Amino acid sequence: MSRRHANPTRRFVSGGSNPFGGILHPKSHVSPLLSIVLVLVGAILLIGLFYGGSGIFGGYKEAISKVEGDFTCTLEVQRAIPILKKAYGDSMHKVLHVGPDSCSVVSNLLKEEETEAWGVEPYDIEDADGSCKSLVHKGVVRVADIKFPLPYRAKSFSLVIVSDALDYLSPKYLNKTLPDLARVSSDGLVIFTGYPGRQRAKVAELSKFGRPAKMRSSSWWIRYFVQTSLEENEAAIKKFEQASSKKSYKPSCQVFHLNSYH
Ligand SMILES: *[C@@H]1O[C@H](CO)[C@@H](O)[C@H](O)[C@H]1NC(C)=O
Repeated sequence: MSRRHANPTRRFVSGGSNPFGGILHPKSHVSPLLSIVLVLVGAILLIGLFYGGSGIFGGYKEAISKVEGDFTCTLEVQRAIPILKKAYGDSMHKVLHVGPDSCSVVSNLLKEEETEAWGVEPYDIEDADGSCKSLVHKGVVRVADIKFPLPYRAKSFSLVIVSDALDYLSPKYLNKTLPDLARVSSDGLVIFTGYPGRQRAKVAELSKFGRPAKMRSSSWWIRYFVQTSLEENEAAIKKFEQASSKKSYKPSCQVFHLNSYH
């Protein structure tokens, strides 16, 4: 942008042997284009300021995180809602979602017909947007540390869906939290968790979660369920698989279906 930046290029071009001289010629073609881009970027930033960052910037941020592939199993839950509806049918009428960015899942679930939804957000929501703060204010989404018993009575929800949150818990806390999630559900518990070797959380976010995520393998989880007497929900697994193949849906996270306690 400054003159000093343009100089090396110009010298390069006037060297004569550069085969890309025509393309790289800075003065005639690149600069006007660059100015237009800069003006556009400036305009977008200004619009963002006017809209208080909630509307436009929310969508913009989401678009960026999708492009960068920085994506979470919470996003995967939202992609999977139509499949979950096929697999769980009426059991989707009263859903609790547990995990980071719960507001986004809850708002999406609330758009579905005949679905009531609540959320538990395990981490702070300082950077939450206005609509999320309003969900928290109404008590639809709660901020709660899931290492402690959830503030709900047994079988308060037909279905409990948890994403990402369990990857941050050591087995000691998993031993408490997972049975508690099964306790507050009546028709099942669905777990969305990352594949090992595919670190999803950005380094910057690690401090927020307290400890780095530990992605466990499918065999680790299955062994863990057996140890803690949690049963897999065979009927739901089958229906979920059928609905997935019908809609050519391939989850980017591991999905487990467990029975509630009876
Ligand atoms: C978790 O619970 C299982 C089954 O009750 C037990 O075998 C295991 O030692 C527990 N793990 C921890 C870290 O407490």
